Amino acid sequence: MIQANSHDDSAHGSHDHGEHHAPPAQFAVRVLRQDAPGAPSYWERHTITRENDMNVISVLQRIAAQSETADGDKTTPVAWDCNCLEEVCGACTMLVNGKTRQACSALVDKLLAENPEEIELRPMSKFPVVRDLMVNRSRLFRALQKVQAWIPVDGYYDMGSGPRVSPANQEQAYPLSECMSCGCCLEACPQFTKIELKKQEGETDEAFKAREQAAFDRGFVGAHAISQVMLFNNHPTGAMNAPARLEALMAEGGIQDCGNAQNCVAVCPKKIPLTTSIGRAGRATTVHAIKKFFDR
Ligand code: SF4
Ligand code: SF4
Ligand code: FES
Repeated sequence: MIQANSHDDSAHGSHDHGEHHAPPAQFAVRVLRQDAPGAPSYWERHTITRENDMNVISVLQRIAAQSETADGDKTTPVAWDCNCLEEVCGACTMLVNGKTRQACSALVDKLLAENPEEIELRPMSKFPVVRDLMVNRSRLFRALQKVQAWIPVDGYYDMGSGPRVSPANQEQAYPLSECMSCGCCLEACPQFTKIELKKQEGETDEAFKAREQAAFDRGFVGAHAISQVMLFNNHPTGAMNAPARLEALMAEGGIQDCGNAQNCVAVCPKKIPLTTSIGRAGRATTVHAIKKFFDR
């Protein structure tokens, strides 16, 4: 609950340090819209009546219900992606007041405390826009495919209990397993630049997808994929495929493209120790390369 004066200032002889202001009855929202992939973007302003416990998703729902801009022009609902509504799926990631974060956990009163003037919503800049705030994150998932970020099973029959995992190993693995593929680390990474291809005339869907995946594979894989390699390579069963994952990290667009700017670790909403993973992956790929050299 926001209170006008929730702690006692009188002892300091002051009544206004600007800590707590009553939230406004209404607030402005500025949304960067785009009608289709590759189309020009444009700003749209909305006025929203504040309610208790609003998040950015509820703001977008109010915008859809109002169907009018702040200038009184008719408009269509803003498109956005969401799923879990509890910061677990990563689908609602967007730039809120310039910061990459999840719309479902971005609380209006906190945003207004940061900037009482308005809330600004933009799609992530490193992924192609599908419409408005909805982006196509398929490159992020392609990177996970490229590094084989899974443990293969060859059937769904009962394979018995797996190997024992030590508590020390569990402690190291658990934080890495929390990755929700949101893309914040990629949005912040200077080495991860946007790849957006257009379908050529007469190109089949399959041919376009193959061309797009080849382009994705040449681009930087990103901190999320490097960290997942460390998660699966350090699992006793996953370790069986460790060389293939390391090979993928050493290919074009691999770990050598990381400039160690450390922006990724600063923005990860799950506080995953990405630079630790990158350091460990760097050592693992070096050892793998030396081993390969002597095994020739
Ligand atoms: S440390 Fe590497 S992955 Fe992380 S932001 Fe920097 S360049 Fe990108
Ligand atoms: S590593 Fe963190 S920032 Fe990157 S995709 Fe996973 S949860 Fe999001
Ligand atoms: S809807 Fe899943 S993280 Fe926001």
